[in-house]
Amino acid sequence: MNTALRLLLVVSYARISTLLAQAAPTTSFVAPATQISDGQPQAPTAGAPVSQISAGQPQASTATPVSQLSDGQPQASTAALAPQMSDGQPQAAPTEETSPSVTIPNGTFVGLYNSTYDQDFFLGIPYAQPPLNGLRFNLPASLNTSFSEPQDAKAYSPECVGYGVDQMGYDISEDCLTMNVVRPAGYENASLPVMVWIHGGGYRMGGAADRRYNLTFLVQQSVALGKPIIAASFQYRLTAWGFLAGSTVQQAGLANLGLKDQRLVLQWIQENIQAFRGDPSKVTIWGESAGGSAVGYQAQAYGGRDDGLFRAIIAESIWENRYSSNMTQQNIWYNMVLANTGCNTSSDTLACLRGFIFRHVEQSFQHDTDNLLWPCGGW
Ligand SMILES: *[C@@H]1O[C@H](CO)[C@@H](O)[C@H](O)[C@H]1NC(C)=O
Ligand SMILES: *[C@@H]1O[C@H](CO)[C@@H](O)[C@H](O)[C@H]1NC(C)=O
Ligand SMILES: *[C@@H]1O[C@H](CO)[C@@H](O)[C@H](O)[C@H]1NC(C)=O
Ligand SMILES: *[C@@H]1O[C@H](CO)[C@@H](O)[C@H](O)[C@H]1NC(C)=O
Ligand SMILES: *[C@@H]1O[C@H](CO)[C@@H](O)[C@H](O)[C@H]1NC(C)=O
Ligand SMILES: *[C@@H]1O[C@H](CO)[C@@H](O)[C@H](O)[C@H]1NC(C)=O
Ligand SMILES: *[C@@H]1O[C@H](CO)[C@@H](O)[C@H](O)[C@H]1NC(C)=O
Repeated sequence: MNTALRLLLVVSYARISTLLAQAAPTTSFVAPATQISDGQPQAPTAGAPVSQISAGQPQASTATPVSQLSDGQPQASTAALAPQMSDGQPQAAPTEETSPSVTIPNGTFVGLYNSTYDQDFFLGIPYAQPPLNGLRFNLPASLNTSFSEPQDAKAYSPECVGYGVDQMGYDISEDCLTMNVVRPAGYENASLPVMVWIHGGGYRMGGAADRRYNLTFLVQQSVALGKPIIAASFQYRLTAWGFLAGSTVQQAGLANLGLKDQRLVLQWIQENIQAFRGDPSKVTIWGESAGGSAVGYQAQAYGGRDDGLFRAIIAESIWENRYSSNMTQQNIWYNMVLANTGCNTSSDTLACLRGFIFRHVEQSFQHDTDNLLWPCGGW
């Protein structure tokens, strides 16, 4: 890491760590998987789309109407007219007629039209196979099936399992690899720049449903400025679910899964965002705190290789990852997980951990009732 960036990280860390220290729980935050919902609009998706994906009908003929997308002409001059551009629909509550839909190779998603903001919301779209069973503690797997019936994308999915104040009020689930797209209505033939938000929370908490990360206002401001964008947010695995460590994990090439989730969603955006009227060549990744450091990691990943996933980055209040790179220490913790689960006698310890129910594995992450070890090293 270059010196300037490191300095920036350190300075930012001091500020964020203070904030987090104030927010950090001192008692156990092993929240029940069935979480508290306070009845807010962003509450859990009934029937996350993931489970609705049916197997393998080819969708070739229904693939994205890419032909309707223009080559990204600036829409600035029409911004003020945005409310009139919503294809002539009355500004009423969403109906079948006003519900926007998007067709990608996997199938069609039906979102929500919000007349107050004149925006289309597509919420809770799966971007990877659910990281369950054999895919727990494994690389995120790209979707490889399509579905023939349109799927609702009208509510946020549960957040990834995390531990801390950010999770309070939100449903959590291991099945959480979803993303959201918010776009200004209209702009039928546009190809708009895309802002992708990476949430923070120290890689141990947070989620895209968080009301502080509501993308509506950013999009609204972009339209007001005459520089309309579409915005996306997503979730990635947290704590040990996304950052299990130790030599076994490292040798299996399974370290930093949460960052690999991020990489996969950026790939998904490249493949599919045109259907949402986004321009895949104009993607900005943007995040705060751990999301800010994730932006740095993505920019530097694989020796800084440019995979064409984004063209610009914004890292706010970067939080320097203080997790232990001490392999001896990581192995102590990994072995503790094995001992706590009984997997220490298994010849394939990762396979053993994948075989357990959620709760059993979760309990093994704690070294006592009050502390959650993962990611390694604490604050
Ligand atoms: C489903 O979507 C993924 C992600 O864009 C893509 O890689 C895959 O080819 C699609 N599969 C099918 C069968 O549509
Ligand atoms: C649109 O926004 C308004 C104002 O916040 C809200 O009351 C309404 O429920 C939203 N509609 C949808 C479909 O999200
Ligand atoms: C999709 O991927 C999963 C996991 O990699 C694999 O088990 C499954 O056979 C694949 N399905 C298809 C239809 O390719
Ligand atoms: C978008 O393009 C189609 C096909 O060229 C055209 O019929 C339609 O009027 C265009 N819509 C807008 C809002 O410019
Ligand atoms: C953003 O917040 C407003 C006001 O509460 C709400 O109406 C809207 O649905 C939210 N937008 C998204 C994309 O969640
Ligand atoms: C690594 O961790 C082990 C076990 O906690 C400890 O004994 C050792 O001093 C650590 N090494 C460094 C360089 O911090
Ligand atoms: C596995 O862990 C248990 C619980 O700590 C311990 O009693 C047992 O001796 C361990 N077995 C091996 C082979 O390390």
